[in-house]
Amino acid sequence: MQFADRLNKVETSAIRELFKLLGKPGIISFAGGFPDSAMFDVAGIEAASRAALQQEAGAALQYGATEGYQPLREQLSAFMADKGARDVAPEQLIVTTGSQQALDLLGKTMIDPGDKVIVEGPTFLATIQCFRLYGAEVISAPVDGQGVDVDGLEKLIAEHRPKLVYLIPTFGNPSGATLSLERRKKVLELAAKHQTLVVEDDPYGDLYFGEAPPPSLLALSAQVPGSRAWLAHCGSLSKVLSPGLRIGWLAAGPELLARAVMCKQFSDAHTSTFAQATAAQYLKSGLMPATLARVREVYARRAKTMGDALHAQLGDAVEFVQPQGGLFLWVRLTGKGGKLADAGEFARRAIEQGVAFVPGTPFFAQNPDPSSLRLSFATADEDRIREGVTRLAKALNA
Ligand SMILES: Cc1ncc(COP(=O)(O)O)c(C=O)c1O
Repeated sequence: MQFADRLNKVETSAIRELFKLLGKPGIISFAGGFPDSAMFDVAGIEAASRAALQQEAGAALQYGATEGYQPLREQLSAFMADKGARDVAPEQLIVTTGSQQALDLLGKTMIDPGDKVIVEGPTFLATIQCFRLYGAEVISAPVDGQGVDVDGLEKLIAEHRPKLVYLIPTFGNPSGATLSLERRKKVLELAAKHQTLVVEDDPYGDLYFGEAPPPSLLALSAQVPGSRAWLAHCGSLSKVLSPGLRIGWLAAGPELLARAVMCKQFSDAHTSTFAQATAAQYLKSGLMPATLARVREVYARRAKTMGDALHAQLGDAVEFVQPQGGLFLWVRLTGKGGKLADAGEFARRAIEQGVAFVPGTPFFAQNPDPSSLRLSFATADEDRIREGVTRLAKALNA
């Protein structure tokens, strides 16, 4: 069979290959990119789905508008307003089947073969793959502990004239890094100055452990003249409520949104109306603030447990910035004292010791750092985290 040439540009993710090993009995996994299923608010979601069926069964079980179920668009607009983006009307966002679909729609609407896009190095692997599928040349911008280096980014924009710049400014996957307020404003100025679309992907912004992070680019764009027109914002309920609901959204200017809606029509017609009605009922019920408080508290403890255990058991063999939110801890092997500095080899040895994580190289579109790796602290409880880190120490010294 002759498959489309575009498939030659992507390969099955190394992470998926690794997941096949996770079925081994007794493995402690720091590899996943998902929330802990033990923390789903099952009762709240059950009540919301029952309310959807009791109050609006006709709409919840029928075909719906491609743009999204209006009551949910209203709830999402209010949800974002609570977080500082006060001027995003329901009509200025569309509901997508996970934020992954928002990224796909952006790829479809914006990218021609040979176009350049800029992402952070490292960034979310599925975005790299998705943009490559549309033929993009994906260029990596340098990042540090405060997110993307904006001067470096401006040079790359001027040199490559990209179709878009994709950023995860808050608790990035995999870096855990958060862009400072000053840099956020600068990014928005760059978008307006160079008339370059900036995509803000923000599935983790609500998962902060102490102080709230700086406002999203979307919220700040109200203060930076000319920037809103060059901004697209992707949101998701996956990491805070449930990824199985597949509720994401895309807020963008009217022209881009209209084209994304057209592409979505040909893709899935609309996101599940039942899932949308359930999510709308959930948000309306006022349960979200308590849910957020609970997940923040649990992940904060797990992140601290993992950071402390890494310091205590792996010492100067690793370096990392303690995450202030999100699900991930991004680690670099220092190689100090002749210790292992290759994260791929470390991952193989770790599996033998009964602990799994994802080596960092697949997260780089260019210039991979082979000493980097991503640990998720989200799905194992604190005892398992401590035991998993003990196994990592054994693997490092094996
Ligand atoms: C940065 C980032 N964007 C988007 C997604 C996709 O999430 P969803 O499609 O479940 O909203 C993920 C999931 O891991 C992610 O880490």
